Amino acid sequence: MEAAALKYDFRSDTVTRPSAGMRAAMASAEVGDDVFGDDPTIKRLEARVAEVIGKEAGIYVPSGTQSNLIALTNHCERGDEYIVGQQAHCYRWEAGGAAVLGSIQPQPLENAPDGTIPLASIEAAIKPDDPHFARTRLFALENTIGGKILPADYVQAATALAKQHALACHLDGARLFNAAVALGVPAAQLAQPFDTVSICLSKGLGAPVGSVLVGSKEAIARARRLRKMLGGGMRQAGILAAAGLYALEHNIERLAQDHANARTLAQGLAKLPGLTVGMPDTNIVFVDIDPSVGPAFAAHLAEHRIGVVSMYGSTRQRWVTHLDVDAKAIDEALSLAAQFLSR
Ligand SMILES: Cc1ncc(COP(=O)(O)O)c(C=O)c1O
Repeated sequence: MEAAALKYDFRSDTVTRPSAGMRAAMASAEVGDDVFGDDPTIKRLEARVAEVIGKEAGIYVPSGTQSNLIALTNHCERGDEYIVGQQAHCYRWEAGGAAVLGSIQPQPLENAPDGTIPLASIEAAIKPDDPHFARTRLFALENTIGGKILPADYVQAATALAKQHALACHLDGARLFNAAVALGVPAAQLAQPFDTVSICLSKGLGAPVGSVLVGSKEAIARARRLRKMLGGGMRQAGILAAAGLYALEHNIERLAQDHANARTLAQGLAKLPGLTVGMPDTNIVFVDIDPSVGPAFAAHLAEHRIGVVSMYGSTRQRWVTHLDVDAKAIDEALSLAAQFLSR
């Protein structure tokens, strides 16, 4: 179904459209050629994200995928290896870029249901210095992962283990602000154990484009060359960065509404026959559906212009709340679901 035909789009928090206020900020942005280092709006955005996340420097990039790839190639040379979860975006969902473009070998490990990677598996996967093996150089986590918040004590223990073995640590924090708002802690606290952190502005924060990779001054200086190599050096992109600055100012605290909406949605769906619903930590709800009704339920939602992601022959759905689906959207979606499943 065409996205434009959807009434309520729960497929992802990437579907948000820039608000009038955000568009006004973009229209009036001061710009310059960023490859020459001349764009004041991009510089402000990079400095602001670095400050909020508690790192020395930041670099604005077109996408979360590019941000992660720059981080991986920053930490690993050709033939090195990174330890990563099977479910991690920077392993599973980025078209194998680390291997293809970075010549970096992934060492994927099974994620536990809570999104963590067991410490014993990490330890067992770190290779000794032996010419048979790729050099294990990096440990990568994602927070939130599938909408779940990684337990803080786990993150401390896992990154401490990685550091004991001289591994660098990267966080895909595409939705780190969702975790920070849900926990009521500064994002910098969650970012502290990591050398580099990738933050997406185009997910729950509602900007149309862009991510910022933050880390040490040296790492970000290297990242500038890598960004250029990957074609991510943009020119008067302050017009886009202005949306990011607007998002940081206006759209962080309101993530709490998305989380409340996700809880209402999950609680409502959980009451319906044939559905098994995971209670969300943040803004992503997974629903398992009896195979006897899955495809017909998915078709019913599509017919009524409710967009969700259906997986595994429609026996699993992902519903994501965001800026453009309010409490009314949740109510209507729940009534439509009940109309089909309770008959
Ligand atoms: C956790 C996570 N990391 C990275 C990305 C990649 O972001 P982009 O789509 O901007 O490349 C996504 C995209 O959905 C994501 O969910």
